[in-house]
Amino acid sequence: MRTCNTEETTKPAIFAHRGARLEFPENTMSAFRAAYDLGADGIELDLQRTADGVLVICHDENLERLAGVNVDLKDLTWRQLSELNAGHAFPESPEERFPSLEEFLSWFAWTSLTVNIEIKNSVYPFPLIESEVLYAIDQYKLRDRVIISSFSLESVVEMKHLAPDLSCAFLFKRHPYRALNAALEYGLDALHPHYANTFVPGFVSRCRRHNIAVRLWTVNSPRVTRFAIRQGIDTLITDDPAQALRIRDEWTMRRS
Ligand code: G3P
Ligand code: CA
Repeated sequence: MRTCNTEETTKPAIFAHRGARLEFPENTMSAFRAAYDLGADGIELDLQRTADGVLVICHDENLERLAGVNVDLKDLTWRQLSELNAGHAFPESPEERFPSLEEFLSWFAWTSLTVNIEIKNSVYPFPLIESEVLYAIDQYKLRDRVIISSFSLESVVEMKHLAPDLSCAFLFKRHPYRALNAALEYGLDALHPHYANTFVPGFVSRCRRHNIAVRLWTVNSPRVTRFAIRQGIDTLITDDPAQALRIRDEWTMRRS
């Protein structure tokens, strides 16, 4: 199992889901910088590809919610995408751009954060995106601080094949034991389950026995945060990293 740096020293690591998205438009450089300033251990982000082949950070396939334009990201060129306001949902804030992976990595390389790059290829497949992502990571020599995940098992298996030393995780919502069997069959490092799976009897301890890291999403309630900490979950992916860090600190203080 390949863990991330923080998981080896502090548990659980706290990852900001799409950056600090409570205060800034999600998946923008402002949200990522704010997550860093808050003291998060890592960032989770979503990756797609434009019509002319630029890897860009954005959650939704269709841009209506995020940019107020009813168009799919995959059908726009990088230049067309750059003209849209990624902060449409935050009308009181300055305009934001959708960052390219390159822009993100050039900033991230100078931090000590871990990043979980979720490849968003379940709706549109983005053929060969795995090798393009790997190329970008290798340009900055960042394999030890990157975790790749996807709801597409095929995609994470391909990434693990291309880069056996990269931490690769299968994302899922239901059927935890089916996911665990797949992780073991394909030699994956981790599972990223919806948080409800943490309540499935025996599941987390079974993962631990098999040396599979568990990173839960999206853990926003204090009750689930505390339950997950008691279970020894490796990472919590949360919309509210400040709250999760506070709860983790309280827990650590009580035990010391
Ligand atoms: O990576 C965990 C989580 O982000 C997966 O769901 O829809 O928020 O990308 P979603
Ligand atoms: Ca995601």
